[in-house]
Amino acid sequence: MNDHDSERIAGLLEEMGLARSATPEGADLLVYNTCSIREKADNRLAGHLGTAARLKREDGEKLVVVAGCLAQSRRTEFLADFPFVDIVVGPQNLHQLPTLLQRRLACGAPVGAFDEATTSWSADLPRCRVPGPAAWVQIVAGCSNFCSYCIVPYVRGPEASRPAADILAEVARLVADGVRQVTFLGQNVNAYGKEPGFAGRERFADILERSTSVPGLARIRFMTSHPKDVSDALIDVMARPNQVCEHLHLPAQSGSDRILSAMRRGYDRRGYLDLVRRLRGAVPDLALTTDLIVGFPGESEDDFMDTVSLVEECGFDGAYTFVYSPRAQTDAARLPGRSTCEVTERRMGRLVTVVQEAAKDRNQALLGRTVEVMVERPSRQRSGEVMGRTRGHKPVNFTSGAAPGELVMVELTEATSTSFRGRRVA
Ligand code: 5AD
Ligand code: SF4
Repeated sequence: MNDHDSERIAGLLEEMGLARSATPEGADLLVYNTCSIREKADNRLAGHLGTAARLKREDGEKLVVVAGCLAQSRRTEFLADFPFVDIVVGPQNLHQLPTLLQRRLACGAPVGAFDEATTSWSADLPRCRVPGPAAWVQIVAGCSNFCSYCIVPYVRGPEASRPAADILAEVARLVADGVRQVTFLGQNVNAYGKEPGFAGRERFADILERSTSVPGLARIRFMTSHPKDVSDALIDVMARPNQVCEHLHLPAQSGSDRILSAMRRGYDRRGYLDLVRRLRGAVPDLALTTDLIVGFPGESEDDFMDTVSLVEECGFDGAYTFVYSPRAQTDAARLPGRSTCEVTERRMGRLVTVVQEAAKDRNQALLGRTVEVMVERPSRQRSGEVMGRTRGHKPVNFTSGAAPGELVMVELTEATSTSFRGRRVA
């Protein structure tokens, strides 16, 4: 979502007549788009802002913009801590960046905008897309789930679904522009249309279904899916032969009922496993990936082992693993029972090994198969090779002169836990 916000920030600035600078030293405007999901992202920003302060000391005309979730969570306190910052803009106010810039130039003092909720669809803004066959399309803003560890609902506001007609118009525009794959974005795409006050009648499966009739669109992806909101209609549309790819990113977070309940995830271990069973039954080639948190407050060794066994039982194709990071405002930050660094490091090491083993097994089981691959770009490692992705979103490197966006058939010949080598057969 942050990547996509950055595309829109760049698009807005280009529309104002600004152009991208090759170096921070040569830029009149320095823009930092921030994330606050974990503490590490905060710390990285502190380093970048040190550079911004130095550049501004050398050239007092430079303007510094801090956008995104961290800006939203700190608001005016941010301007007090970093007096050289000129503009602070939250994720719900990106559309105001041009007016904020004008105000800053006119008044000579720092300015900011931090709306709580999405009122104006920033998804409708211009964007400066990285050239290539794939594009993001935002369909839901915000999140109303309030998982106990997560800052997103506080910084991106409550769920707000974008009108279906606008989504489909954007997909059609992108395809006319040469895009072959769209990825629908939302913190929880499965909640599409469920919020009170949504004017349409569509649900997420309807958006997928209707997108399958856009001529020229080769692939449809989406993320992220909350397990509690996966509907039969979604499973059904994924099971049918169409452009919707057989990949689901389904964050489990933990395999322990006690921890899932403290996280307020709205499902238990059995519910998650039942869902995976139904999905694999309906979509046999499904690639399933997940997010897992280690060291949530109160996590015991038994709780952690429940997460390990969940990975073994589900056989994920991949997982993002995160060390729990306490976030201001969230309920979990006030819970006792924080694990020590030694414990979380050991658990994380173990979990990563189990995840990699499961992913490698899944990939090795695919060796010898011939699958559809969409070429994304020339390989960075070897000339004459390209990198493409399977419908399950797995990277495959192979020799071919095929152009980005082309669909080719490739036999998978070698596998690691994260990628394949292959041989083009058609
Ligand atoms: N600490 C660690 N991981 C977190 N995530 C969200 N909040 C936190 C936190 N406070 C992870 C979840 C989520 C992913 C995007 O980031 O696993 O699915
Ligand atoms: Fe955060 Fe939970 Fe919303 Fe995901 S569903 S963004 S983890 S509150």
